[in-house]
Amino acid sequence: MSYSIFLKIFTIKVQSSERKLWFGVFYALIIITFEENMPVQIVLGAQWGDEGKGKIVDLLSENADIVARCQGGANAGHSIIIDGEKYILHLLPSGILHPHTQCFIGNGVVIDPEVLLEEIDFLESKGIQVKDRLFVSPQAHLVLPFHKILDRAFENNSPDVKIGTTGRGIGPAYCDKVGRVNLRLHHYYHRTEFEEKYRSRLREVCHRFPEIDALQALDHEQLLADALDKREQILPLLKDVSLELDRAIKAGATILIEGAQGTLLDIDFGTYPYVTSSNSISGGACTGLGIGPTKIDGVIGVLKAYTTRVGEGPFVTELTGELGDEMRELGKEYGATTGRPRRCGWFDAVIARYAVRVNGIDSFALTKLDILDSLPEINICVAYQYKNQILDDFPTDLNILTECQPIYETVRGWQASIAGITDFQKLPQGAKKYIQTIEKLCHTPVSIVSVGPERKDTIFNSRKP
Ligand code: GDP
Ligand code: IMO
Ligand code: MG
Repeated sequence: MSYSIFLKIFTIKVQSSERKLWFGVFYALIIITFEENMPVQIVLGAQWGDEGKGKIVDLLSENADIVARCQGGANAGHSIIIDGEKYILHLLPSGILHPHTQCFIGNGVVIDPEVLLEEIDFLESKGIQVKDRLFVSPQAHLVLPFHKILDRAFENNSPDVKIGTTGRGIGPAYCDKVGRVNLRLHHYYHRTEFEEKYRSRLREVCHRFPEIDALQALDHEQLLADALDKREQILPLLKDVSLELDRAIKAGATILIEGAQGTLLDIDFGTYPYVTSSNSISGGACTGLGIGPTKIDGVIGVLKAYTTRVGEGPFVTELTGELGDEMRELGKEYGATTGRPRRCGWFDAVIARYAVRVNGIDSFALTKLDILDSLPEINICVAYQYKNQILDDFPTDLNILTECQPIYETVRGWQASIAGITDFQKLPQGAKKYIQTIEKLCHTPVSIVSVGPERKDTIFNSRKP
């Protein structure tokens, strides 16, 4: 029980008449119990990204004071649909569409200033005020134009390992971060130092890759002028995110941490090398925001009711035939950042169990259940067959994973529309059974079921698994 409890009771007591006092105290205790239990929650992807994190974070932001992005960059594409209008956010936290929230971008994010400013301008053109409630860590790293050129050049020139990146400069920017040569946003504070460092980086990179024409064609002075212009606009957004979050946690604020990508794209725990370059598992939330693990109260894993992936790499339950194409069309599975068709397949419980383990997920938000409405039969992968062994756990060796075959349990489809249902009990029996099977296979409750892209298309499930 903290200071914030007494503050809230006191506030309600002061505001209440004598008659309403006890009701006020009672009401405060309900709010407090909810908030005190789970003030800091991580929402992250449990598969290969695009699970619907944007929708879930936007939904939960209604009750959040702060929403913070912790890793990744403009490779993310988080879609939110409000009253038919679609917003795709690449860098800004998905809580930004709720005007009461403060939004933070942490040190773990790599920031392309062009995308950041475009996104702010876009939202402000829609009447959403951003500038006084968005703060960016000075310890975050910059994605510069040459990072994007390198990203595309490496992809095109590496016939052996083609990752299928988003081309947003993510890998090269994180390489420079770990290589200790990159520019961070705090370099903006000192204009001359920033100019010198930027010039020197440009020279080095061009010298190192003489064969990349697009690099050699860069006009260094023009790039520097652009960078200085963006610096002016971004400087007012800089704030020590770790310090602000610490203060907010101490004051009892409710905080949502928004992951980008998904567990299997994590640089350590994903299907390396077919991964992104950051830690997209829950650990990345601590290192990407500067908060300690003891401050995290819960982890929600966002899980699509089937599986998708964009880019290259093994995918055990992939459907390459007509059914895969049908799923892609039903689910509108085209990348929010690149527009690429997403590969589609059945739900994979081996992956979901792995995600529970490496992230400490305590509940799932199951999305896009409505996309399975028309299917007569639905397969769930319960384990992998590897040669003559049955694997319940996700293998650490990509060579083994590549040879794994899915072992399916088949459930009957419900073949009815679940659009508009907001009560778990009103779901068709088959849909309930599907959810319960996932809960059982993953030993984790499904606390939210999403049956459409809008906020209202959601079932909050209080039933225990
Ligand atoms: P994210 O990267 O995890 O935020 O996911 P994306 O935005 O890239 O992709 C998810 C897509 O599914 C978006 O187009 C969402 O609008 C949409 N979506 C999210 N939840 C649901 C749902 O429950 N049903 C349907 N039909 N669409 C959904
Ligand atoms: P959200 O946050 C799906 C994939 C790319 C590629 C690999 C490496 O919207 O879920 P990168 O550009 O990061 O170097 O690409 O990671 N990828 C994503 N796939 N959703 C994403 O983000 C992704 N971000 C990166 O397709 O396979
Ligand atoms: Mg996405």
